[in-house]
Amino acid sequence: MTRRILLVAACALVDADGRVLLAQRPQGKTLAGLWEFPGGKVEPGETPEETLIRELREEIGIETKIACLAPLTFASHTYDDFHLLMPLYVCRRFEGTPHPREGQVLKWVRPRQMRDYPMPPADEPLIPFLIDLL
Ligand code: C5P
Repeated sequence: MTRRILLVAACALVDADGRVLLAQRPQGKTLAGLWEFPGGKVEPGETPEETLIRELREEIGIETKIACLAPLTFASHTYDDFHLLMPLYVCRRFEGTPHPREGQVLKWVRPRQMRDYPMPPADEPLIPFLIDLL
């Protein structure tokens, strides 16, 4: 079977206490109720960093810059109908206080507590990288 590749950029926002922001996927979306790193699909013509700057503004109302986005690792996961490639960036410098602009629930979580928040299968393998880093 030929699967298309879906490119999604994700970002671990880290606050001054070393906590990471998780967002709960709202009802009506696929994987509703699961917790994920903010981000979204890379649109044609965008770089993943441009996607994150746009998505972080649209989804949670914060501003950041390309220089503040550090690539950490990426998820590579096969779903039934597509293969997801998802680079994960870490961002410690941003302006504004994250607030939900698209009906999500947001939560600052300590890296070791992230396992208590059910995540999409693509996201879970990313957790150890954040625990090691933070
Ligand atoms: O967020 P969006 O629905 O646009 O993402 C497209 C698909 O990518 C989701 O249906 C989900 O299967 C996958 N995804 C994921 N982990 C994320 C974001 C998206 O597995 N953090």
